[in-house]
Amino acid sequence: MRLGVNIDHIATLREARGGLDPEPAFAAIIAEAGGADSIVAHLREDRRHIKDEDLFILKKVLKVGLNLEMSIAPEIIKVALKIKPEQATLVPERRAELTTEGGLDVLLNFARIKEVIKRLAGSGIDVSLFIDPDIRQIIAAKKAGARMIELHTGSYANAKNKAQESKFLIELKAAAKFAKGQDLSVFAGHGLNYCNVFDVARIKEIEELNIGHAIIARALFAGLGQAVKEMKDLIKQ
Ligand code: PXP
Repeated sequence: MRLGVNIDHIATLREARGGLDPEPAFAAIIAEAGGADSIVAHLREDRRHIKDEDLFILKKVLKVGLNLEMSIAPEIIKVALKIKPEQATLVPERRAELTTEGGLDVLLNFARIKEVIKRLAGSGIDVSLFIDPDIRQIIAAKKAGARMIELHTGSYANAKNKAQESKFLIELKAAAKFAKGQDLSVFAGHGLNYCNVFDVARIKEIEELNIGHAIIARALFAGLGQAVKEMKDLIKQ
């Protein structure tokens, strides 16, 4: 099972000061050295974290593939066609949301999604659709020409109790099995962390997990002691 590491939150931290630090490409290189099989970045329409320039730099420095999360807005498609990431994941986008809150509604936006898949795939980009673990959405994704889907694990990750978690896990397993049966490559992500990843990682039909928030949050605590020590040493000098 491959791991895609989402580095959006490195850019979020940079934007908190509006400067150059921390540089998302440095984070991507460290993630790559740590074993990331791909780097994921979401170019949001409001450019709240990752900027167009970040993507050009990432494309230049990465050895692993770049997976660009993107909406189906014409302006974003244009950027994607310039950057030509190895993979593009189509996601729904609402400006007011804190993060991608639900899967893409392929049934509702069928014609547009079909056209976007054709355009991106025509320029050599592998296209994945980020959808809820819902059989109707999987069928629509297949009909629209997708060869890969990413199942939204948000409901599982945000389950209020064990009973709910089991129910959402069963749904996820059934969706993964069904999608694989449709000859789709199956990925999953959103809200996965160091506690809830085990059961999802056991689903054999899933080939790739995409994780961001938990890894960046963990990196802060794994590295904070060292960072303080280095500053203390400099002050002493
Ligand atoms: N996959 C997709 C399609 C996403 O939109 C996101 C969030 O940007 C993730 C995976 C990663 O989610 P998280 O940051 O909660 O791990």
